[in-house]
Amino acid sequence: MPDTLTITDNRTGKTYEIPIEFNTVRAMDFRQMKVDESDFGMMTYDPAFMNTASVKSRITYIDGDKGILQYRGYPIEQLAENSTSFLEVAYLLLHGDLPNTKQLDEWRTNIKLHTFVHENIKKLMEAFRYDAHPMGMFISTISALSTFYPEAKDVLKPEVRRKQIYRLIGKVPTIAAFAYRHSKGMPYVYPDNELTYAGNFLNMMFKIGETRYKPHPVLEHALTVLFILHADHEQNCSTNTMRSIGSSHIDPFSACAGAAAALWGPLHGGANEAVLRMLDEIGSKSKVPEIIKDVKEGKRKLMGFGHRVYKNYDPRAKVIKKLAYEVFEVTGKNPKLDLALELERIALEDDYFVKRKLYPNVDFYSGLIYEAMGFPMDFFPVLFAIPRTAGWLAHWEEHLMDPEQKIARPRQIYLGPTERKWIPLDQRK
Ligand code: ACO
Repeated sequence: MPDTLTITDNRTGKTYEIPIEFNTVRAMDFRQMKVDESDFGMMTYDPAFMNTASVKSRITYIDGDKGILQYRGYPIEQLAENSTSFLEVAYLLLHGDLPNTKQLDEWRTNIKLHTFVHENIKKLMEAFRYDAHPMGMFISTISALSTFYPEAKDVLKPEVRRKQIYRLIGKVPTIAAFAYRHSKGMPYVYPDNELTYAGNFLNMMFKIGETRYKPHPVLEHALTVLFILHADHEQNCSTNTMRSIGSSHIDPFSACAGAAAALWGPLHGGANEAVLRMLDEIGSKSKVPEIIKDVKEGKRKLMGFGHRVYKNYDPRAKVIKKLAYEVFEVTGKNPKLDLALELERIALEDDYFVKRKLYPNVDFYSGLIYEAMGFPMDFFPVLFAIPRTAGWLAHWEEHLMDPEQKIARPRQIYLGPTERKWIPLDQRK
């Protein structure tokens, strides 16, 4: 049997044979289907990219029905269990393979050389209001980096791209921590490059009087695992934004700022904040049935539930749920855990959720851990953006190197008025 699709256009009676590759047909193959020569040709319509592959990628694989997530072929559970550091996984995403000892050392050194920010960045951040949302500060500051490194616009030069990758991965924790310290009115803490990526981040967040900050090993490990789990997730909203902005060949700082803005939305990376606000609002187990009733009546959504791709338990949520207990051993149990467990129990038994295959996603439990570790709620999306920067950059570079890609520019179906004559202001109704 040939790998083709035969389509008959009943408007003209013509038949077309279209190749199938990777179980996919090319939308451009439809363009030849015309009623007459003046016809533009047929397009495909797919709002929200529900069934459109916009790239061929070798970075992350997801099987949403089976609950599988792999970075470069490695199951997320194995990476979470065995990786010695977040930077090892970032290397994997950006290079395609796990590093050997020498490669990891070099990679780490290159990133650590770029953890500090220009003093003017600090001044720039000081200009934000005391109550500025840390994610707003983060996005604006990432964007401002492009003005400090104008050479970054040479995106087709591999050595220029590499340097910006070091800079971005190195600086995002510093900028994130400065945003937090700003909101607390506390002095900024400079990076300690003797510490791990996660350990140094905790240092810049929480160091107060001590000469040398020593992160708690369990919390440092938990944050490393959370960073690994959030590092990439193929063509999600923010990654698609990164690719789309990057396709215009703008520098990666500007593209990353756009991707981070996409991440901030409550339907995407802002969901972990929304979950905790929802748990706060519910308050006690006795209110759970009432909330579930509202959700089923379409009055609200159960935040942290459902996913465009996973129609099974999100594999990251499973790892996080286990991790939560390890963290609570140190921090004490987050009292909202019981409420979350009760919500999950009732939802997973309910026909509404079962039928729609709505399971807890990565955001359902991550916020509980973040809160127990002392991160404020509005900081949660920033915690997501730090590791996701590695994923965005891997996709950005893959996109730029893909000979099939051009500037991202979708078509539209125009349904507005046809041409009409301009009416002077005094004659309009
Ligand atoms: N609570 C209640 N009902 C839901 C939920 C939810 N969380 N999610 C989906 N549904 C329902 C929809 O109302 C719809 O029902 P219908 O068929 O009766 O109309 C059905 O399930 C299918 O949902 P869609 O909205 O079509 O699914 P989509 O793939 O467009 O949305 C999304 C995915 C945005 C994640 C959605 O599930 C949602 O809003 N969840 C809550 C927010 C959230 O947790 N986001 C984090 C996602 S993970 C991440 O980005 C890191």
